[in-house]
Amino acid sequence: MGVGEGGVERAGSGGAGRRGRGWGGAWRGAGGSGAGRVRAVVGDGPTGWRDHALAATGFMPADEGDALHDAAVAAGRALPGLAMLEVGSYCGRSTVWLAAAARATGTVLVAVDHHRGSEENQAGWEHHDTSVVDARIGRMDTLPRFRATLYDAGLEDAVVAIVGQSPVVAALWRSPLSFLFIDGGHGVEPARQDYLGWTPHVAPGGILAIHDVFPDPADGGRPPYEEIYRPALASGRFVEVGALGSLRILRRTRVSD
Ligand SMILES: C[S@@+](CC[C@H](N)C(=O)[O-])C[C@H]1O[C@@H](n2cnc3c(N)ncnc32)[C@H](O)[C@@H]1O
Repeated sequence: MGVGEGGVERAGSGGAGRRGRGWGGAWRGAGGSGAGRVRAVVGDGPTGWRDHALAATGFMPADEGDALHDAAVAAGRALPGLAMLEVGSYCGRSTVWLAAAARATGTVLVAVDHHRGSEENQAGWEHHDTSVVDARIGRMDTLPRFRATLYDAGLEDAVVAIVGQSPVVAALWRSPLSFLFIDGGHGVEPARQDYLGWTPHVAPGGILAIHDVFPDPADGGRPPYEEIYRPALASGRFVEVGALGSLRILRRTRVSD
């Protein structure tokens, strides 16, 4: 996990700069802030969409959000007309970076989440946020915050939200995707199901992005690494084209690859 409640980055705090356009191997292992960063060029000024991403509740570090955005723009340009899809939107933080990329390339982002939070978001766990609990039922409900984030960022029309269980939605899905971002349940079974259910829909030449990939168990939970990242590479259907922090960017191979 990256940035959470209590540690939420605000516009201008740590996210003021961003990397250049090259999202490929150039930034592999480069980590967070530091040399090579340039001033923000994304968004529409002080109240642009990027500032709303940075102000949103969630777990996407600024530099990884920028890399995610750039990868999605490249995928959207390479495969025009295909939708993008995110599994795991929470309060819409990563969604803003991706929705902006979808809009910039003339497509939409489908955002799949049941909005009840993952295991690690529940009461008693490290990433629990009482401000997204529905007091009436005593359960998490991130949908109102998600909607507010997209409204504030001016990106509602670039997003189709699907409220439901990821494997159920995946079983109904029929369209090829230019870009797939998996950041849903981080347990073994949810991660395995997201891999099996969603990755076949990435079109040849399209991108699979995975968050919270930790090759070293000391850095974090293993399922996104063991159940999504490794099987994707082992399948021969994907090659790694970029990495930053816990974000991994893989491209679906073409017949000619
Ligand atoms: C790590 S959070 C996503 C963080 C978000 N991408 C961000 O940038 O802040 C994981 C999200 O996945 C959702 N989720 C977990 N398991 C799911 C499932 N089986 N189906 C749908 N959504 C799920 C949770 O409700 C939670 O909102």
